[in-house]
Amino acid sequence: MSAWWRDAVLYEVYVRSFMDSDGDGTGDLAGIRSRLPYLRDLGVDGLWLTPFYPSPGHDHGYDVSDYVDVDARFGSLGDFDALVADAHELGLRVVVDIVPNHTSSEHPWFRNAIADPQHPDRARYVFRPGRNGGPPNNWTSAFGGPAWSLDEASGEWYLHLFAPEQPDLDWHNPQVRRDFEDVLRFWLDRGVDGFRIDVAQALFKAPDLHDVEEPSPRTWHVDWHTGVGQPELHTLYERWRELVDGYDGDRILVGEIVLGDQATIAQYVSPGRLHLAFNFALLHEAWDAEAMRDVVDRTRAALEPIGAAATWVFENHDVTRLPTRYGGGRDGLARARAAMLLLLALPGTAFLYQGQELGLEEVELADELRQDPIFFRTNGARPGRDGCRVPLPWTREPPAYGFTSGTPWLPMPETWSDGSVAAQEGDPDSMLTLTQRALSRRPDGPFSWLESAPGTLVFRRRDTICAVNVDAVELPLPGGELLLASAPGVVDSLPPNTAAWVRAPEGATT
Ligand code: GLC
Ligand code: MG
Repeated sequence: MSAWWRDAVLYEVYVRSFMDSDGDGTGDLAGIRSRLPYLRDLGVDGLWLTPFYPSPGHDHGYDVSDYVDVDARFGSLGDFDALVADAHELGLRVVVDIVPNHTSSEHPWFRNAIADPQHPDRARYVFRPGRNGGPPNNWTSAFGGPAWSLDEASGEWYLHLFAPEQPDLDWHNPQVRRDFEDVLRFWLDRGVDGFRIDVAQALFKAPDLHDVEEPSPRTWHVDWHTGVGQPELHTLYERWRELVDGYDGDRILVGEIVLGDQATIAQYVSPGRLHLAFNFALLHEAWDAEAMRDVVDRTRAALEPIGAAATWVFENHDVTRLPTRYGGGRDGLARARAAMLLLLALPGTAFLYQGQELGLEEVELADELRQDPIFFRTNGARPGRDGCRVPLPWTREPPAYGFTSGTPWLPMPETWSDGSVAAQEGDPDSMLTLTQRALSRRPDGPFSWLESAPGTLVFRRRDTICAVNVDAVELPLPGGELLLASAPGVVDSLPPNTAAWVRAPEGATT
């Protein structure tokens, strides 16, 4: 029997925006726990929780000040245990986020490092003297601006690939490696089913910290040329794999490897290393049949020879919502619905981001509401990621749509009533129902392309054919039983921006 994670569907819960239980306007663990039946009914295999650890919140939890506790705004360790217990009871796995590249600047280690340059904790970070009155090298932060900030008291600079409030750890320091093994064990002992490793390709930096020309302007997802992706990573992940495999229950390591080159990604998931790596290639492609076919081919070509499972991602908390990326409005939504059938038919593990099943669009926020450090560090040149992080609408009633009894931490659009869970549940034509139906009958088995016209994608998994008309005039459907279509009214052919699953008649070859 193949391991569960090789063809699972994991649902990303952005903790502060899923469900609020205590009226403070911020989602929390008890809120998530109360909505686990929704996830079970949706039909996913498990959830990935974004960071809920104590954090000053400069990057909404990706700046951790204590790796082995729960931030009071999200609940307590008791709430976490109850959430895991309930999830397991419902047959849902729980994967947690771990943020090893950097701590919060409020972490006691960094406070010690700043308070006293002789303190042993200083060596957990990357402090260096400057060069010609400026930073030690030319590296830039993924959030804009230089990757170094000056520690005025000592005159040295410290490295932060993200915000200054997120100082990078020095993974060449064995103490750092030992500490994180303890962190992994802490959560494994509490029953988590695995970890999503934040910025997994960046932990080790080239020891000489040499200058590198990065493309400018920096975008979120360009391959990182800065001296990351060091070979030491593979030894580290082999060690982590042993550690995780030492536990029962088939627990997993999923790396956030922000790279476009599939062959490089493959190195991270070769035998004995990470179980899975996010594959962001589809997430960066336009609605374009040839480009998407190419992504599928390149992914399979890199992973199949080493026996690694593919993953597919169209949305997460760092990117613009899919219907908006696909042009917005009716077409954007139609394409996102078709993409859902594509996503859930591809061979491997799929990641869904909360609200993707509702077809939510990116929210336009006024500048004064924005919170993402990207917006501030680029002086507004990059709007940042707040627009995909607006809380979920559960009921039809504005302004908070059942998300909270208080005021949501980001305002929710006045137009979200029809997109809410309550409005979509039970509606045979809604995106929520489409997602549910697709999840209840995901195809499996070997994958093969079937010949089809330009602008279309047609492939087969055992007896199920997935047909996607991206932008051809019309795509006639193969004979057989129509299992599911992304738009109402489909009978035997697909207009552009639609997809369908068809059960091929017994013995048919196309
Ligand atoms: C990852 C997270 C992102 C965060 C960054 C820094 O890419 O997905 O949200 O800002 O790491 O931790
Ligand atoms: Mg709350």
